[in-house]
Amino acid sequence: MDRNSRNMTPKEIVEYLDRYVVGQNKAKKTIAVALRNRWRRMQLDDEMQRDVTPKNILMIGSTGVGKTEIARRLSRMMRLPFIKVEASKFTEVGFVGRDVESIIRDLSTTAIQLVREEENEKNAEKIEAYVENKIIEKLLPPLPDSASEEKKRDYEASFARMSRRLENGELDHLKIEVEMPPPRIDVGTGGNVPPEMMNVQESIIKVIGGLGKREKREVSIKEARKILAIEASEELLEEEKLNEMALKKVQEGGVVFLDEIDKIAVPSGSGQRQDPSKEGVQRDLLPIVEGSTVNTKIGPVDTDHILFIAAGAFHLSKPSDLIPELQGRFPLRVELDSLDEEALYRILTEPKNSLVKQYEALLAVEDVKLIFEDEALRAIARYSTIANEKSEDIGARRLHTVMERILEDISFDADSYSGKSVVVDLKLVEEKLEDIIESEDSTRYIL
Ligand SMILES: Nc1ncnc2c1ncn2[C@@H]1O[C@H](COP(=O)(O)OP(=O)(O)OP(=O)(O)O)[C@@H](O)[C@H]1O
Ligand SMILES: [Mg+2]
Repeated sequence: MDRNSRNMTPKEIVEYLDRYVVGQNKAKKTIAVALRNRWRRMQLDDEMQRDVTPKNILMIGSTGVGKTEIARRLSRMMRLPFIKVEASKFTEVGFVGRDVESIIRDLSTTAIQLVREEENEKNAEKIEAYVENKIIEKLLPPLPDSASEEKKRDYEASFARMSRRLENGELDHLKIEVEMPPPRIDVGTGGNVPPEMMNVQESIIKVIGGLGKREKREVSIKEARKILAIEASEELLEEEKLNEMALKKVQEGGVVFLDEIDKIAVPSGSGQRQDPSKEGVQRDLLPIVEGSTVNTKIGPVDTDHILFIAAGAFHLSKPSDLIPELQGRFPLRVELDSLDEEALYRILTEPKNSLVKQYEALLAVEDVKLIFEDEALRAIARYSTIANEKSEDIGARRLHTVMERILEDISFDADSYSGKSVVVDLKLVEEKLEDIIESEDSTRYIL
């Protein structure tokens, strides 16, 4: 399904999300439509395309209810350049810290990786052939052109034999010498290096890299495969073409997930001093969300059609505490529901790779068969709900701490249960949790 995922209908997108995220239907729908609109836009004529800008989304919901999870799952499935950043980490332009333009620079870097992966998949056969050829050539140095016909025939036969043995893994223990790819030092991420400087830095690295010969190293064939695959990939897709494709991908499909947007809102009437730096960050965000051009190492990125999904709990502030211009740029608002006992129970059991399935799989590695009784799972959901009510509501994250608590001993002693089944029943859950739940303090500190 991955191949054509960009053509998925909103219904299909929601169905996909349902496999991982319980409930939150409004949020799923809104995002599904926003993503589908991207694809719809691409079907329009150029002039119309330019006028259709994405409707950015503001997700409002308390912690641990699935905001990030929805965005994360989607981007992975859609294979779009995706980046999640915490709005509260940024500082105003001109101050020490990360400026907001770095979001787009980092997004571009993910686009490069994505394009590289996609191209490698497309070229998998070519890459494999390149790698095999190179390896066999090392083991079987090519004949000079002047070799006799007979020698050439012999050579071909040996080559074919070698190729079979290589495919069967019979040669994996051998070592060969390969040239290491030039170090890929990524100066583009993490800091505030302006793009002009990034290019200078990269050129310097290239020059220095080019001065010395490429390092040669003796490695196992298994290792050599990986190294040669990088080489093959670089030969098949030149940097310029790669950048061009990445640029297109970022501009037309990029998704920025702006987490903790509430933390840069300044609550009105709270008696709090106005915080100029928070507002400064909001103002800096404005042009990027609005549509502007940011210089990156793949070239100037036009942010007009990048989709922004902002999320926040908005406990201490309200969406209306954001500066009006920024509010206006997030016209789609969705509220996520907080998770009740039933939702927590479903989260434990239903999603593909749910927590229960994760623990079963982890212990299966130790040859322990973990069996959860339904009663126990119900109780876990119930205790988690109580804990959320007694201390902070941390949503589904509570399940993680509760499960750890219940399974800590089993996990620790797993070796002694090897080859056996271990049943998690209501009694065990109560034993582990009852005392903690009874006292508010211990709930707060232990769970
Ligand atoms: N509705 C849900 N269905 C399935 N799993 C969920 C759901 N909500 C939360 N989870 C699980 O809980 C954990 C935290 O969820 P997530 O990261 O989405 O929280 P969040 O809403 O982004 O919270 P925060 O505001 O703290 O960032 C994840 O491991 C996720 O799998
Ligand atoms: Mg989150």
